[in-house]
Amino acid sequence: MSVSNQIILVTGANRGIGAATVRELLTRDVKKVYAAARNPASLPDFGDARVVPLTLDITDEAQVKAAAETAGDVDIVVNNAGTAVFSDVLNSPLDTIGADFHANFYGTLRVMQAFAPKLVAKGAGTIANVISVVGLVAVASLGGYSASKAALLSVTQSARAGLKGTGVKVLGIFPGPIDTDLARDIPLEKATPESAAKRIVAGLEAGEEYIFTDPVADHIGHTWRTNAPGLEAAMAGAE
Ligand SMILES: NC(=O)c1ccc[n+]([C@@H]2O[C@H](COP(=O)([O-])OP(=O)(O)OC[C@H]3O[C@@H](n4cnc5c(N)ncnc54)[C@H](OP(=O)(O)O)[C@@H]3O)[C@@H](O)[C@H]2O)c1
Repeated sequence: MSVSNQIILVTGANRGIGAATVRELLTRDVKKVYAAARNPASLPDFGDARVVPLTLDITDEAQVKAAAETAGDVDIVVNNAGTAVFSDVLNSPLDTIGADFHANFYGTLRVMQAFAPKLVAKGAGTIANVISVVGLVAVASLGGYSASKAALLSVTQSARAGLKGTGVKVLGIFPGPIDTDLARDIPLEKATPESAAKRIVAGLEAGEEYIFTDPVADHIGHTWRTNAPGLEAAMAGAE
């Protein structure tokens, strides 16, 4: 599926992977990009009249409903917005662990629920959820975040099954470490958001159900496919 002439909404479009994805989309002949952000004033100047700013805090039910009406003509929804709190699942307060669920799980699911009927009514479309490789295998120092992304993978799979036959595809995007604010305190070599965005848009165009965005994600994805128990042991050993 080409992104040519498509209308695409990207959440969390003001910085990081979201802003890079908007810029990558603008290199193609897309029709319109809704650049959604909690605070539209924080959106960079994309310098392109095809960009339509949209106010969208994905944890705000009223804003999500309003966005689904304003952007009801959308073809592709890229659920990129997310948060990451370092939490140890055995010792952190449940509120701390739950913090990432507000945006990553319930927020993304709220957007999926609001937009899926619009896409189903058109008989075509794509919902692409930015998950993480830690949704495939937990990283203990990011235990709550990993759990929120594993839960997001689960609803991505459920929605894919639920929308089968409607013409609406549901894709998962699995970044490894990417050099953004969110990963600032992660002491690993990181890919650039621009390179991740290229892989995201290529994956959208290919309709890949599992889109890996960088070399670390490629490696983890390969090991997950071939030896998931071994991957868990390797991640536990790497911490
Ligand atoms: N960077 C990595 O290594 C990495 C790896 C795997 C997965 N990811 C995922 O990639 C996605 C993008 O992250 P990033 O690395 O680009 O991080 P980032 O630079 O920190 O950007 C996070 C984006 O999410 C937005 N956001 C947070 N909560 C929101 C809410 N309630 N409603 C709407 N927008 C909200 C932020 O908006 P504000 O500016 O308003 O806060 C910001 O635009 C996230 O889902 C993240 O989990 C990142």
